[in-house]
Amino acid sequence: MRTQVGIIGSGPSGLLLSQLLHLNGIDSVILEAKSRSHVEGRIRAGVLEQGTVDLLRTAGVNERMDQNGIIHGGFSLAFSGRQQRIDMQKLTGGKTIMIYGQTEVTKDLIDVRLEAGARIEFECPAVDIEDYDSRAPCIIFEKEGKTRELVCDFIAGCDGYHGISRKTIPQDKILLFEKVYPFGWLGILSDVPPIDEELVYAHHERGFALCSMRSNTRSRYYVQCSLDDHVDNWTDDKFWDELRYRLPKSLADKVITGPRLEMSIAPLRSFVSEPMRFGNMFLAGDASHIVPPTGAKGLNLAASDIYYLSRALTAFYSEDRKDLLDRYSEVCLRRVWKAIRFSWWFTSMMHKTDEDAIHQRLQISELDYLSSSVASRTSMAENYVGLPFEPFA
Ligand code: APR
Ligand code: PHB
Repeated sequence: MRTQVGIIGSGPSGLLLSQLLHLNGIDSVILEAKSRSHVEGRIRAGVLEQGTVDLLRTAGVNERMDQNGIIHGGFSLAFSGRQQRIDMQKLTGGKTIMIYGQTEVTKDLIDVRLEAGARIEFECPAVDIEDYDSRAPCIIFEKEGKTRELVCDFIAGCDGYHGISRKTIPQDKILLFEKVYPFGWLGILSDVPPIDEELVYAHHERGFALCSMRSNTRSRYYVQCSLDDHVDNWTDDKFWDELRYRLPKSLADKVITGPRLEMSIAPLRSFVSEPMRFGNMFLAGDASHIVPPTGAKGLNLAASDIYYLSRALTAFYSEDRKDLLDRYSEVCLRRVWKAIRFSWWFTSMMHKTDEDAIHQRLQISELDYLSSSVASRTSMAENYVGLPFEPFA
């Protein structure tokens, strides 16, 4: 097989890239190890920055998002029995976020790609990558038990943290930075109305809690748990009791409980690999960086990588320009590290750790400072809604 851009992975990164390239007349093939139903069934977060919303509109993948997505102008922090709202819209000159599940974004992207006749090879894992620094890189993949080749001009490694693309790079050619947090998030999805119109991030001596939603009738809640905990240790009632413990009374009294649709535990990690380009192979999204979910940056960072990569590849094919391809890694990493910093700061401020007692006092004083300082709330708001994309044209 032959194509211009060989894309490994049909998560949000690979699919969005394929769509934006298609709109610019550039051919691509997506190789995905899993089945379509598996990819569409993964439960993930659901906060879209303004920049991601705009990019999905540019890609023509916004119909259902604009119908079903919920626009939020703020969120709140709960601590020491009280609640502090962060008025993002006011503090950032009108910017907002959109609540719309990543699962739905992925479904919309697959629908639009297949309607346009895209080649998405599901259940075709890439097993090897050859000559990624040549003018004809090649992806070796398996299809129906046979080994096949996909020759291309460029490879986009959009295969997530556990993918093959980053692992193909020799250790002496890549820098890896990782921080694994000593706790996880136990999440429940339930068809009950959310407790608040906006998201609530709660700090409590028993641990962190988050009150989020997918719609006005479907809620997503998380409580901090230990890494060796297991879903089997948690009945629904135990989850709802623990959640209420960690919320101020005014919020706890508003929790409407119901049976789980899904319950799972997610580990928390900060991870970056540098650089993000190796010859004619470009890494994007979780293949190159992971953020803890606290700042809801995972999908949005993947989208910003694709904003830059799609522009760089389009400039190459339409104007024979190589400068944007050459700047891709440096420009992406500048934005990635800012999101890694924000997510680490937010995670450190809100989660219970085994550090000494002074740590919890410092957390409360940081939250208190946020309550009393417009400047600190502005900094938090501008990071949460998403920092602007650097000029890249
Ligand atoms: N061959 C083909 N496909 C592969 C391979 C392989 N060897 N290895 C992994 N994949 C596929 C996975 O099955 C998955 O569908 O690559 C895809 C990677 O998708 P994601 O993990 O969703 O990564 P990305 O598209 O970068 O999206 C990042 O996903 O995990 C969330 O929080 C994260 O929101 C962020 C977003
Ligand atoms: C979610 O809705 O799943 C969600 C929201 C905000 C986060 C993380 C997850 O920071």
